[in-house]
Amino acid sequence: MRAAVCRSYGDPDVVTVEKDFPVPGLHAGQVQVRVGAAAVNFPDVLLVADKYQMSVPPPFVPGSEFAGVVAAVGDEVNTVAVGDRVFGTALVGAFAEEIVVSPEALTATPDGVEDWAAAAFGVAHRTAIHVVRSVARVQPEEELVVLGAGGGVGLATVQLGALFGASVTAVASSAEKLDVALRDAHPAGVDVVVDPVGGGLAEPALRSLRWAGRFVTVGYASGTIPRIPLNLVMLKGIHVLGFQMLSFATNAPDEFGRNEADLIDLLSSGRVLPHIGRRFSLDEVVAALQFVADGRAIGKVVLDVSRVPGR
Ligand SMILES: NC(=O)c1ccc[n+]([C@@H]2O[C@H](COP(=O)([O-])OP(=O)(O)OC[C@H]3O[C@@H](n4cnc5c(N)ncnc54)[C@H](OP(=O)(O)O)[C@@H]3O)[C@@H](O)[C@H]2O)c1
Repeated sequence: MRAAVCRSYGDPDVVTVEKDFPVPGLHAGQVQVRVGAAAVNFPDVLLVADKYQMSVPPPFVPGSEFAGVVAAVGDEVNTVAVGDRVFGTALVGAFAEEIVVSPEALTATPDGVEDWAAAAFGVAHRTAIHVVRSVARVQPEEELVVLGAGGGVGLATVQLGALFGASVTAVASSAEKLDVALRDAHPAGVDVVVDPVGGGLAEPALRSLRWAGRFVTVGYASGTIPRIPLNLVMLKGIHVLGFQMLSFATNAPDEFGRNEADLIDLLSSGRVLPHIGRRFSLDEVVAALQFVADGRAIGKVVLDVSRVPGR
């Protein structure tokens, strides 16, 4: 099969497209998916550089979010069938024509939703709905500030926040601009801050909260985990909250399941669609990874895996 392969760690240009990479073996309890599209995320860049929180030994195929069609099912799989359209997540393997995963990693792609949208819809929007609805518990007409609003999680949080009736302020870039912009826009303070960026943006954003406002830490795209003076929290009675997908799914399974089901309805009905900043072919995988590594992506970046070169 055609696959983007990392044979040694390094910058994105260590990844090469190979025409005869072996299709992963299909065992009992597994599903083989013919990939139509895959989303490119910053952790893919980190895995190729061996700077992620876990290592994958080369050679491996990067890529963690995908959508396509079930091509084969192993013994004991009865939740999906050959020909079903699905989307899902894995640690690696998505930048290839075929991927093998467990059925639990897959969700049915709603009718009318194309592969590029389904591939880009996974983690960012799921994070956003759980954070907005269950962690921050955003109420209609509350003032919601979203940091890193040009990124996947940020943009999805802006969409979901608006859908749940909040008045949303989307914030990008520097701490100085953030401080000025928020004081100006919300002199009385805001109700909720959602922060997938961390670093120098977190403290001015937390300072912009009103009394008893909520600050939700979601990620550290800046590369720095902020240290906030707790007196700021004390003085304003601020609620500091955190979200992490796996621990939320494990500890609040009912709420997790409800949010996920409602999100699929929102996708099916077209009320929520991921914003695609740029699409690349599989042959352009190095450019796609570099685009994400350089922080140039707005929203999600998608690889059209099934697009055949020259057509
Ligand atoms: N907790 C969870 O379960 C969970 C789930 C999904 C993702 N995450 C985490 O959430 C974070 C964001 O993920 P993502 O997919 O949205 O990433 P992304 O698409 O790469 O977006 C990150 C955004 O962060 C901003 N940013 C990056 N570096 C910055 C810096 N030095 N200073 C200021 N802003 C900076 C940029 O926003 P602007 O340039 O537009 O300001 C960028 O658009 C990551 O750390 C990810 O690991 C956590």
